[in-house]
Amino acid sequence: MLKNLCAAHRGWSSRAPENTLAAIKMAANEPDISMIEIDVQMSKDGIPVVIHDYTVDRTTNGTGRVGALTLEELKKLDAGSWFNSAYAGEMVPTLEEVLRETMGKVKLDIEIKRAGDWYPGIEIKVAELVRRYEMVSDIMITSFNHETIHTFAKIAPDIKTGNLIYGFPVLVDEVLDYTKASVLSMGYEYLTEEFVRPLLNRGVEFVAWTIDDPKYMREIASMDERIVICTNYPERWFSARR
Ligand code: G3P
Ligand code: CA
Repeated sequence: MLKNLCAAHRGWSSRAPENTLAAIKMAANEPDISMIEIDVQMSKDGIPVVIHDYTVDRTTNGTGRVGALTLEELKKLDAGSWFNSAYAGEMVPTLEEVLRETMGKVKLDIEIKRAGDWYPGIEIKVAELVRRYEMVSDIMITSFNHETIHTFAKIAPDIKTGNLIYGFPVLVDEVLDYTKASVLSMGYEYLTEEFVRPLLNRGVEFVAWTIDDPKYMREIASMDERIVICTNYPERWFSARR
């Protein structure tokens, strides 16, 4: 049996609306899910909230940019009905609510979504929450915004971080050196054995996303058992690994 750990992408997002407490609780209660990936942005009034897109349009009944809405406005939105009417009334959770729900149960991969100069100060707010809920050893912070990871290393050098990369990786040593990250979280299509093996052997950790096809789950997992399989369909991995 393949031994790679499983990360549930946006919670158990094939079974419940992504990035909601319903999807997160479902994943947190499955012992074979080691980590839950979530996306964090900031409300207009500076509260870290869990939602993927930069607008609320796709995953709620509202419209507009996440950062243009206050927490009170975000909390009025229905973040469940778009997925299934059984989830009507699910809300956009705050990061704090997610930490409360997951502490002591499961690890979290907190992806900070930060385009350009949006969400100033999000790094310190996330770090403070992680400390308040004593989850430093259960958290990794990831971002496509490598400047955010560089900032994190300065303000919270004890919190594990990772660079998100989608595309053929170049200047990897320089990026790791600049950001002080210990994880590469990559689009699985760009992973090759020649690339990952020496880095794994140097202690760099790998997360591969978003693998929903059992064929590719097995292919990536067979490269090395240390690569975490991040998927919207944990149930497929449970069958594929056998
Ligand atoms: O964990 C990485 C993966 O979630 C990045 O892509 O667009 O799903 O946030 P995206
Ligand atoms: Ca993400």
